[in-house]
Amino acid sequence: KRPAGAPDKELARKVTKVGVIGAGLMASQFALLFVRRLKVPVVITDLDQERVDKGVAYIHDEIQKLLEKGRIKQDDANQLQALVTGTTNKADFADCDWVIEAVFEELGVKQDVFADVEQYISPEAVLATNTSSLSVEQIGSKLKHPERLVGFHFFNPVAVMPLIEVVKTPATNDETLSTAMVTAAKLYKNAVITRDTPGFVVNRILAKVLGEAMHAVDTGTPFEVVEESTRPFGLPMTPFELLELVGLKVGAHVLDTHHAAFPDRFFESTNLHKLADLGRIFERDAKGRIKGIDKEALKIV
Ligand code: 3HC
Repeated sequence: KRPAGAPDKELARKVTKVGVIGAGLMASQFALLFVRRLKVPVVITDLDQERVDKGVAYIHDEIQKLLEKGRIKQDDANQLQALVTGTTNKADFADCDWVIEAVFEELGVKQDVFADVEQYISPEAVLATNTSSLSVEQIGSKLKHPERLVGFHFFNPVAVMPLIEVVKTPATNDETLSTAMVTAAKLYKNAVITRDTPGFVVNRILAKVLGEAMHAVDTGTPFEVVEESTRPFGLPMTPFELLELVGLKVGAHVLDTHHAAFPDRFFESTNLHKLADLGRIFERDAKGRIKGIDKEALKIV
């Protein structure tokens, strides 16, 4: 069944090479998914060689883990590892027909990244942004061909979470949307088409839950009490565990974006920014299991 609002999949362009801009954890996670599922060359870039090498090393390690778990064979592992390359030269993106970014969540940065890469790629290549709550239309405002830009929002952990939000702007054409939907299916993900509104659908709901939990702490309810009170919800993670999973800086940014867009409905949290600077909410054991709220985090709130 064709998902609501999806154009004919016959319009989809073939993806023969993927370019990934950003080599952080989110970008590396989906670069791995692209190479594993599409089995096409994936080239990764970032600001400097060190970041690029770190991203490529992460993907190679994850492929090795898949081999050790018996999910793939040695030949597949070799083939997948060979398909992933890193570069600091955008000219290596020239023959990419799908370019996706997960760089810092700042409008100007994303606009410049796309305007820059557009100089190197063909006018038909699809551009996708993994933004979690910025306007996709605004991200594309410096493009010569904004019709080939689409939002393609993954969730953390990428390997496990089954959804992709495909974000259509007023400019996105049917070929681009169709390519996004077909690509999502090839990645074995369920895709939904969302409007280009702050937080799309998922983060709009998450910002409410995470923001209310943080606001309860900000207004004097002890951290442990809020944490304990959310466990009976039966969600796989409490709001604070989820904030750590997505990254405290990302979480704080998502709350800020929602507060800016809907100040009467969403809270911003100074404490969350301070926790982001600290880098953690929980104290964990050597295996990463939660021992309790971190002592330094308790001093902040
Ligand atoms: N990275 C990669 N893989 C991971 C992982 C991670 N951080 N955490 C767990 N996994 C994998 C494990 O390797 C395992 O895979 P396997 O079956 O192939 O071995 C599988 O997930 C299940 O792991 P576990 O049995 O160890 O753990 P759980 O059953 O406790 O599940 C979880 C872990 C899937 C992370 C679960 O706790 C969960 O669903 N949490 C909620 C996640 C969520 O809501 N994400 C959305 C965040 S919002 C977002 O990303 C948007 C952004 O814009 C802010």
